[in-house]
Amino acid sequence: MAALPSKMFAVIQTHDGYSDTASGPFIDDAADWLAEADLPVPVPGPGQVLIKLRASSVNPSDIHFIKGEYGQPRVKGTAAGFEGCGDVVATGTGAEALQGKRVAFIAAGAGAWAEYVVTQALMCIPLRPDVSDEDGSAQIVNPLTAIAMVDIAKNSGEAFIVSAATSQLGKLMCSLGRDLGLKPIAIVRRADAVEALKSLGAHDVLVTSDSMMLEKFSKLSSELKPRVFLDAVADQISEQIFCAMPNGARWVCYGKLSTETPALTQTGQLIFMGKQIEGFWLTKWMTSTPPEDQMRVVGEVQARFADGRWKTDVSQRLPLRNVVTGLADALKKGDGKVIIAP
Ligand SMILES: NC(=O)c1ccc[n+]([C@@H]2O[C@H](COP(=O)([O-])OP(=O)(O)OC[C@H]3O[C@@H](n4cnc5c(N)ncnc54)[C@H](OP(=O)(O)O)[C@@H]3O)[C@@H](O)[C@H]2O)c1
Repeated sequence: MAALPSKMFAVIQTHDGYSDTASGPFIDDAADWLAEADLPVPVPGPGQVLIKLRASSVNPSDIHFIKGEYGQPRVKGTAAGFEGCGDVVATGTGAEALQGKRVAFIAAGAGAWAEYVVTQALMCIPLRPDVSDEDGSAQIVNPLTAIAMVDIAKNSGEAFIVSAATSQLGKLMCSLGRDLGLKPIAIVRRADAVEALKSLGAHDVLVTSDSMMLEKFSKLSSELKPRVFLDAVADQISEQIFCAMPNGARWVCYGKLSTETPALTQTGQLIFMGKQIEGFWLTKWMTSTPPEDQMRVVGEVQARFADGRWKTDVSQRLPLRNVVTGLADALKKGDGKVIIAP
């Protein structure tokens, strides 16, 4: 085994704690939140592993996090980034079984945007050889969420609604829904995405800029009776869609891509039509789902990437050393993930 260096390059957070504003997963300049640093290579403690990074995918949660608007506080001076893939090069007590394995990982306390990452062995998934590094770097956050949320939908009828359906997660859920014999209704804001989403698996695609969108949705809602709305936008249009859904509908908010604060216009629907508004957070799913169910989901995710039913669309590959200067522009390209590599 090659000796490990004592220092590593990392992209660190420059703020602590939470922000008192929430302006969404968008940035004009990464240098407002991040800086370059040489840090000591971390040492894995009991139950932990040290991973040499191969690739890290940039998710909206990473951007919410560095801006102080995510579900856990920032720690100034520690590396940013939650998700990636790499090789286990050292292990703490109890984690020896992962030594030498290529794994997908979540750096729960943040830290994936660094040459080396320490995380819990429990937050690692050994990768099949037929899953690429780029797919491996986006193997956990979106794919597990896609399966967990489509599981919610499939117990509530054959149709369900997905907003921001051009997002990576939206695309995964449309194709998974189709494969399960369901009818995903995709909501997008770009008319030029309609055909691509239909070929990916959406049964119907509605465009929010279409002035007839809500009328079209009401008609579809009467025909297909979608009872689950998987929503990453959470704006006033989302609320209007929820109001046009049938009795017993569930509005599952799992993201906040819009900065608009929606008003509840028909609270009577919660009382008389048995409708519910709720949230979904993968972190909670991971701590509340029995290990055997999680293993089933992990196995299904890897099988879908290995045989090509799912793939990670890449909008730009960004060297780790260019993150502070190049991340804001890279994120503006859209329609795919920014993948960071050392
Ligand atoms: N709760 C959880 O556990 C959990 C887990 C995973 C992901 N998420 C959430 O899921 C969402 C999607 O994640 P992702 O990684 O798939 O995202 P992504 O691939 O980065 O895509 C986001 C896309 O959403 C669209 N969008 C952005 N702002 C929008 C707006 N105001 N209205 C409508 N569409 C908008 C854009 O597509 P166009 O430019 O094509 O419109 C953008 O490319 C995010 O909100 C993320 O935080 C939540």
